[in-house]
Amino acid sequence: MSRLIIVSNRLPVSASRSEGRLELTRSVGGLATGLGSFYKNYQSSWLGWPGVTLEEITDSERSTLRASLQKESCYPVFLGEKDMEEYYFGFSNKTIWPLFHYFSQYATYQQQFWEAYKRVNAIFSDEIVRIAEPEDTIWIHDYQLMLLPQMVRERLPDASIGFFLHIPFPSFEIFRLLPWRREILEGLLGSDLVGFHTYDYVRHFLSSVRQLLGYDHTLSSMHIQNRVIKADAFPMGIDYQRFAGSGKRDDVKAEIRKMHERIGKRKVVISVDRLDYSKGIPQRLEAFDLFLEQHPEWRERVTLILVAVPSRTGIDNYMILKKEIDELVGRLNGKYATIGWIPVWYLYRSLPFPELTALYSLADVALITPLRDGMNLIAKEFIAAKNEGPGVLILSEMAGAVREMGETMVVNPNNTEEVVHALSRALGMREEEQIEVNRTIQKRLSRYNVTRWAEDFMGGLYKVKAMQRELAVRRLSRRSWQNLVEDYRKSSHRLILLDYDGTLTPFATRPEKAKPDHELSKILECLTGKKKNRLVVFSGRDRATLEVWLGNFSLDLIAEHGAWLKEYGKEWETLEPLADDWKGSIFPLLELFVDWTPGSFIEEKDFSLVWHYRKADPILAGVRVAELEDALLDLTSNYNLEILQGNRNLEIKHGSVHKGRGALRWITREDWDFFFAAGDDRTDEDVFIALPGGGYSIKVGLSSTQARFNLDSYRELRELLRDFAKADEC
Ligand code: UDP
Ligand code: G6P
Repeated sequence: MSRLIIVSNRLPVSASRSEGRLELTRSVGGLATGLGSFYKNYQSSWLGWPGVTLEEITDSERSTLRASLQKESCYPVFLGEKDMEEYYFGFSNKTIWPLFHYFSQYATYQQQFWEAYKRVNAIFSDEIVRIAEPEDTIWIHDYQLMLLPQMVRERLPDASIGFFLHIPFPSFEIFRLLPWRREILEGLLGSDLVGFHTYDYVRHFLSSVRQLLGYDHTLSSMHIQNRVIKADAFPMGIDYQRFAGSGKRDDVKAEIRKMHERIGKRKVVISVDRLDYSKGIPQRLEAFDLFLEQHPEWRERVTLILVAVPSRTGIDNYMILKKEIDELVGRLNGKYATIGWIPVWYLYRSLPFPELTALYSLADVALITPLRDGMNLIAKEFIAAKNEGPGVLILSEMAGAVREMGETMVVNPNNTEEVVHALSRALGMREEEQIEVNRTIQKRLSRYNVTRWAEDFMGGLYKVKAMQRELAVRRLSRRSWQNLVEDYRKSSHRLILLDYDGTLTPFATRPEKAKPDHELSKILECLTGKKKNRLVVFSGRDRATLEVWLGNFSLDLIAEHGAWLKEYGKEWETLEPLADDWKGSIFPLLELFVDWTPGSFIEEKDFSLVWHYRKADPILAGVRVAELEDALLDLTSNYNLEILQGNRNLEIKHGSVHKGRGALRWITREDWDFFFAAGDDRTDEDVFIALPGGGYSIKVGLSSTQARFNLDSYRELRELLRDFAKADEC
């Protein structure tokens, strides 16, 4: 049975030294806590860094640690101090973390860190390959390991590889700042499925892939080389029942009692996060300060319990932040405290589950206002722990969690006045209203819990794999390839129909690059040099271009999607008399779109008009295409015209003309004993349909088609055509 191997930088348990001895504690952070609840119920192993460096432990401690981790199905990836310094504190947390959280001013770009990132990702890939079976599913997590999918793919080409990013994927304008942006994207694209918390992050990722690597996507799927890769949103859930049921636990009840004794009748606002600049803790304290200033009636009646969990303490920006928070708390308490009341209780440590959930349970308000957060599980845990009780969540609109918790009080964390207002509303809100809001969210959270999240992701991964298998079945196998070449060899009257761009040559943005190269010219010479063959090249291009590029070969041509036909040695002729008076009314509209879309241009053919946008900004062009299609709708129906979505172009042509109709002229004319057609886009499907049963039709590229077989690329098709030529001893 296939196993699941989870891989993340941090294991769900971390080792640390306490009074000389190594001890294991539960790791903090959304990834470890969320996934930690799920993986034990699944037959899975978890591979990651155990929390201590090689230099911190002896050899024998290393073996003991390995053995105790194995009991938890965890496998340690040991790293040295230098690696941790440069890969973890360096590239992961001084480059990627700040950049992806829109703190570009904190991001450093050091070659040495990048080298370490590559080095450590490679160490992880060695460890995976050591324990993985070919059938296993490998689920890689988070920003510390973005090169890993590609590294594993190279060594286990058939593995099911999923990747999930637990932090935001920033907009292209931020991501492009990274010097190694292409390598990071290529690393991620080694996966079959790339998951994000929200659809916004998916959009940002796809947009970066398109703009930096040039791969387009349809319904969030990309066909890259011979694989389908999908990106999708899977908002991470929590172990709902664990939090919802926490209030019934004796240890939690005891904690609540203890806390109540200390706090008395005062209202409690909680703030819980790792101490991280992305969490907006100083801004939150400033808002609380302003709240107490503007609402003196709440002084002595409300306490803010501020839990800041130590995190990445070796990094300057974290140390500076710690100092800033210490000072802010000190100043605030100094300003408002009275003999019996301290406005802010400040805990700089991690709380174990009973204490944490006791806080959730007793708090009247949770003030969760990160400046940027991939998800924020604490917000979800708070609402779950409320169970039937009241409590108000004030949540930042910059947290991924807000997408599923829109009913809460949503604030912009930079708008201090708004946060103050929300605090005052929350503290005065009727309990029934609080319970009602929570109930709606609770229903959602209990349904889409962490297990459902992980299963959804796994389901998505298997779906992509099934899609890949389906395409693999349609791919021309070695055996069918041989049969095809054999049928070719045996036949004596062959019709070969070939599309040009994307089929015989790669899709080129500049015309001079699309002309037949030496290799293609040789193939065409061979195939057209045989009496047994009749070769027809069909294309959407205009007559003149085809004539210049292919006029020297003894082959027939179909231009402008079938509007013009030419037999070798004869003149061009049209399939039927075609009007072109419609162009006068469409041209001005296209000109308008050229003005609105810098980089786009119009191509005029005899019987069609094409608006090309390959040189325009892809996002703007995407919007304009929809607008243009809309604007064309009325005009085209008046003239029986058709709009064709091509490869970064939109073509307006006669509805009755298509490549299939043109091809029929040849198909029906003679008694052929071998039919072959190849094409790469939607306009070629009509030719595949027109081909009689038993004919060979080939779609170049791995998308769905009416053709009998698929081939990966124009290279494979050329190889096949070379085999034809060889069969004819050319
Ligand atoms: N957490 C904890 N003890 C604490 C504070 C937080 O165990 O004292 C856990 C909390 O339950 C949550 C996680 O740490 O599951 C924090 O995840 P979140 O997504 O909110 O933020 P991240 O740390 O991943 O940025
Ligand atoms: C976030 C990240 C995790 C990370 C956690 C704690 O949740 O997405 O990958 O493990 O913070 O950070 P740390 O650096 O201590 O692992």
